[in-house]
Amino acid sequence: MPINYAQRRQQFLDALEGQAAVIPAAALMQHHADVEFPFRQDSDFWYLTGFDEPGAVALFLPHRPGNSFVLFVPAKDPTAEVWHGFRWGTEGAVAEFGADVAHPLEQLEALLPDYLQGAEGICFRVGRHPDLEKLVLRCWSNQLDRASRTGEAMRQLTAPCPILHAMRLRKDAGELDRLRQACRISAEAHERVRALVQPGQNEAEVRANLEQHFLACGSRGFAYPSIVAGGDNACILHYTANNAPLNDGDLLLIDAGCSVSDYYNGDITRTFPINGRFSPEQRDLYSLVLAAQEAAIAKVSPGSTAEAVHETAVRVLVEGLLELGLLRGSVDAVIEQDAYRHLYMHRTGHWLGLDVHDVGAYRLGEHPVSLETGMVLTVEPGLYISDRLPVPEGQPAIEERWKGIGIRIEDDVAVVDGGAEVLTAAALKSVEAMER
Ligand code: GLY
Ligand code: MN
Ligand code: MN
Repeated sequence: MPINYAQRRQQFLDALEGQAAVIPAAALMQHHADVEFPFRQDSDFWYLTGFDEPGAVALFLPHRPGNSFVLFVPAKDPTAEVWHGFRWGTEGAVAEFGADVAHPLEQLEALLPDYLQGAEGICFRVGRHPDLEKLVLRCWSNQLDRASRTGEAMRQLTAPCPILHAMRLRKDAGELDRLRQACRISAEAHERVRALVQPGQNEAEVRANLEQHFLACGSRGFAYPSIVAGGDNACILHYTANNAPLNDGDLLLIDAGCSVSDYYNGDITRTFPINGRFSPEQRDLYSLVLAAQEAAIAKVSPGSTAEAVHETAVRVLVEGLLELGLLRGSVDAVIEQDAYRHLYMHRTGHWLGLDVHDVGAYRLGEHPVSLETGMVLTVEPGLYISDRLPVPEGQPAIEERWKGIGIRIEDDVAVVDGGAEVLTAAALKSVEAMER
């Protein structure tokens, strides 16, 4: 199912209520010297345009019906295209990307004032694009200077995020298709590498196998730097060194997913024994995290909340940790006092979409946002048993036999009518499936 960019733009234009929006593309970022990082388009800009070139600027002008979508794009330039590759240019921006009008980027400064004339306000994200911000504010200031003569000037500056991010939070059928594709490729990669892992390999080799599959399947590659963490490295939440040997007897935690051509992402974590057999301690903790994750997924349905999903996971984890002797006290007291947070220190999930940690509010004022059909979130409880964080007063010291065990199980879950669709179900996670 194709992504309907024109429909998104119309929805955005309607929501602007007469304000003009200026939405910039991402810029190229320097890696070192004259080498740049691989280009990654800005997700808001992509969401509205599907245009994948750096430095462009999109205008949304509800006060100019029929000419309401204007793109400023890098101009066609044979020399630049020989060095850096194809550009669509202004003709392509109109013919292929549905712009009503397109101009070369160099003309933005000269033409922006006219395009903004007659708008009720300006919708622009301040603080991120200093050069463009100066230009936008200068246009506004000039309008204000002339207001006594022209009789009109924009009256307010607003942020596009509340409109755009509320739209992005609810995925339509085309977006769910892309997410299913990203999750399928990501799940296949997890299944593939688990079968190949052996003691004595290096984390780097596992990472290479994962990312080889992402690319071979036609995705853009990893959605975020893969985490391939053997043993105690798994207790570092954002471990990305991925360069240690895999030890017989340790667990391996892999948190990795791909980004497909439309930028939708998969985000999966699996944890399994490197030698194919859980130790008793590993099995106890793995079974507990799995039970917490399954209980949390069961909470995903329209009308529930991400908060309820998190609270469910925490409760199951705390009950299990009390039974195992890793915590002491009553379930309610431990939860109330956050006395489990040296063992489980992150939230149970986040929205997923064009960004891995996708946009959209989790709370509106006092109220947690209710889950609705079309929202997609990760469910990723974990336990990280190490002595990096102090044990809270009144809680038991951690016995050596538990240390160096880091476990997370993460699935991507769409809210659907009546419940949830686990988009990453093809990545197995039962205790039996993790052993061989
Ligand atoms: N891989 C980042 C996360 O799981 O949130
Ligand atoms: Mn995640
Ligand atoms: Mn993850």
